[in-house]
Formats: sequence, structure tokens, C-alpha cells
Amino acid sequence: MSVKRPIIIDCDTGTDDAIAIIAALGCEEISILGLTSVNGNVSENYTSQNNLDMMEYLDRDIPVFHGAWLPLKASRDTGAGDNVHGKTGLGDVELPRAERRKMEGERAAEFIYRMALRYPGQLEIIATGPLTNVALAIIEHDDIKALIRKIYFMGGATEGGNVTPSAEFNIWVDPEACHTVLASGIPTVMVGLNVSNQATMGNGEIERLRGYGSREGRLAADIIHYQMNRFGIGIGFSRMHDPLTLAAALYPECLSFRECFVDAECRGDYTRGHTYVDLRNRSGRQPNCSVAVGIDVEKFREWLCERIRRAGE
Ligand code: RIB
Ligand code: CA
Repeated sequence: MSVKRPIIIDCDTGTDDAIAIIAALGCEEISILGLTSVNGNVSENYTSQNNLDMMEYLDRDIPVFHGAWLPLKASRDTGAGDNVHGKTGLGDVELPRAERRKMEGERAAEFIYRMALRYPGQLEIIATGPLTNVALAIIEHDDIKALIRKIYFMGGATEGGNVTPSAEFNIWVDPEACHTVLASGIPTVMVGLNVSNQATMGNGEIERLRGYGSREGRLAADIIHYQMNRFGIGIGFSRMHDPLTLAAALYPECLSFRECFVDAECRGDYTRGHTYVDLRNRSGRQPNCSVAVGIDVEKFREWLCERIRRAGE
């Protein structure tokens, strides 16, 4: 009997985080141990509430944990607040507020450590927001470094950025956390904007998801519709940054990777949050990360739609 892969999804839910979670519910090869919430797209009180509401709305008993309200070093809540994900994080999608389900009392970093101890050498983390919770687990429990099998994170880029010309949002919120994760020696896989900006869904996929006739399909379609029409301008696509990170773990065939030295820039007036990706190994530094460098978009789209379909079965 194949043993299910034990997975924690650490997320700043957020629209594309929500779609990644829905798709993960359709992946029978994994056991989702829990959702750990982190400050990012919106404040942690919203990201955790979104996770809890989703689990009740989709009738899943996956535990939800509170996580970091602030990045390791910043002195303020850096939730985007620029409406990329709307005021509460799910755009104009309003889920019924959870009544039966309650947040767990244990905080994210402690839960991550406890699961690493329970599944030594097997636990994998799919991080789709700033890496604050994961970094705290590493800082507070040094022995965790030998216990976590792999960390897949959405963040950074081989060049450029989205929240600044040189930084991608997740790393920009907490570059110190990214540095801690990359320096930990835990195997890491980076899914950056260089591939995730190509991972788009549009009207055709919205129609297909609605056609499944499931809550999961409708919710994903509504979120994509919001992303395509936010700000009152109809952009013809929505970027699936976080679902692509799930694919890196569960369907790596849709991506190609290169082993590189990567670090996060924690200084610089203009470069804080930049990911230094030594694609040509010129730094002389040992590679510490598998960086996604190529994507087969059609393969990814097909996989993502199918997982969302299975989630609703
Ligand atoms: O830059 C894209 C990333 O920032 C995604 O994870 C999105 O959800 C936001 O967190
Ligand atoms: Ca995210």
C-alpha cells in the first residue's frame, strides 16, 4: 500500500493560495496534516479566517493554525492591502463564516516542529506565502533541519519582481525568513515569478471549473473571475503562482529545474527582498536550491483543472 506523503500547506490565503488548497484536496497521494496561516497578502487574522472558513465550507476536517502576524524583522503588518486579493484576501468571494470549526490552539511553528518529529525525514512543506512560520520553526528548533524532507516555496524570481522591480512579494515581506530557510540545509524547491507569471488561467478554465458542478469548482472559478476583473479592468487571465508550487511537489513533470545557489537580499534601499539566483553557478557557492526555470503551461493547466475536479468528487 502506498504511504501518503505527509504535507503541511503554509499559506497567506489569498486568492491563489485558496486555489492551491482546493487543488491539494484533490490530490489523493498526499495527507494534508494542516494549514498554517501567515501574514502576507492580508493580515494573519484574515488569512487564518479564510483557511478556517474554506475548510468548513468544503467540509474538510483539516486543522487550521494561527501563525506569524509580522515578519521576522519588520515593525509593521505588511499585508499587501493593495487589493490584489481584496480587503479580506479572497477578493469579492464571501464564504460563510465558520461556525462548527475552530482554530487550533497550537501556533504554526510548534505544529510544524511536532509534525517533523512525528514524520522524521518525510514531512514536506508547501509554502505559498512569506516564509516567516517556517523560519521560526527552524530558529526555535535547530534539530528540525534533519527532519524535514523538503520545502517547496513560491517566492522570488530568477530576475525582476512584482512588488518592486527587484523583489517578489513573498520574499519582499520577509527576506530574513527566506534567508533562514535557504541557509538551513533543508532541501528546497523555489517556484518564482519567472515561471509562475506564465501559469495563467482564464475564461476557458472558469467555464470548465463551473461545469464540474461542485462547490470546489465554483469557488475556484469565482476566485479566478475576481482576479481577472479586479480594479474594474478586465485582464484576460489570472496567475496561479501558488497552485504551481503545489504542482512542483506533485506534478514536477510540468516544470524543469536547475540546481543553483540562492539567497535573499536583506539589505539595500532598492534590492531588499531580491532573490539572488546563481543560475550559471559563477559565485562558487554550493547550490542549495532546485529552481524552477521552465514550464509547460498546458500540462500545468490540465493538471490543475483535473485536481480541482477530483476535489469536488
Ligand atoms: O508574488 C506572488 C505571491 O504573493 C503569491 O503567493 C500570492 O498569493 C502572494 O502571496
Ligand atoms: Ca500566497
